[in-house]
Amino acid sequence: MSTLEIRNLHASVEDTEILKGVNLTLHSGEIHALMGPNGSGKSTLAYVIAGHPHYEITEGDILVDGESILEMEADERTKAGIFLAFQYPVAVPGVSVANFLRTAVSNVRGYTEQADSNRGGVIGSNLMPMRDFRRELTAKMKEYNVDSSFARRYLNDGFSGGEKKRTEVLQMAMLEPKFAILDESDSGLDIDALRVVADGINKLATPDRGFLMITHYQRLLNYVKPNFVSIFYGGRIVKTGGPEVAEMLEERGYGWVEQEFGTGELVAA
Ligand SMILES: Nc1ncnc2c1ncn2[C@@H]1O[C@H](COP(=O)(O)OP(=O)(O)OP(=O)(O)O)[C@@H](O)[C@H]1O
Ligand SMILES: [Mg+2]
Repeated sequence: MSTLEIRNLHASVEDTEILKGVNLTLHSGEIHALMGPNGSGKSTLAYVIAGHPHYEITEGDILVDGESILEMEADERTKAGIFLAFQYPVAVPGVSVANFLRTAVSNVRGYTEQADSNRGGVIGSNLMPMRDFRRELTAKMKEYNVDSSFARRYLNDGFSGGEKKRTEVLQMAMLEPKFAILDESDSGLDIDALRVVADGINKLATPDRGFLMITHYQRLLNYVKPNFVSIFYGGRIVKTGGPEVAEMLEERGYGWVEQEFGTGELVAA
């Protein structure tokens, strides 16, 4: 079993403190949903865990199985088993989904470390062998309901919102992370696409994998059952409970959170 631990995490961007003491422990096998108002810092937390260089950690730590990952670059964190599905995936014209995934998978599985000289410096010799990769990709595209034509398309280029989110589930299926952070993987999905994405998450929610699911709505949680639901407010977690917390938010909104957990704490109203 693995553990991702966030301890009293403070982080700033351009001298503005956004994260103000986040504490959260995620074990493999758990699904932890994170809900909170716009601008409260949820995506910032996701970026900081993934190692985005834009943010400055001023206090606290992030540990995987007891080891701090703060000194690791983003690609090393990916290798350590951390995966982030972005709220707004960027298009990468010129890089096909297949090429992107082959490079990413090769990095995570250690192929890129093999010295080129081992195999005579052949181009691609430090990547997962094409035939094995193709076989796996084709099987997983089928399993996760991603149309096979997407392998050749440029990553996220001209993809609809729903297509981007499905492609992220495919990425996750290929990379097999220990901890997956999904930032609003339900936004912009029609009802059928929501089911497809939820089915994919449920398939991937094995006992050896933990999920941190950032979401605004109860609807995804109707399909993907969380063990814990936390409320993120003003740069930190103010309450953690079970699925009932999400239901309460759906009914009552965030007004009471502001009353109970202080005013003026909101980073952006
Ligand atoms: N790179 C940045 N430069 C300036 N401000 C930033 C940057 N990143 C985040 N912020 C600010 O930090 C605050 C938190 O943003 P964040 O995206 O983490 O919120 P969120 O909880 O994910 O909101 P939403 O629910 O709308 O996605 C916002 O006020 C945002 O403007
Ligand atoms: Mg966000």
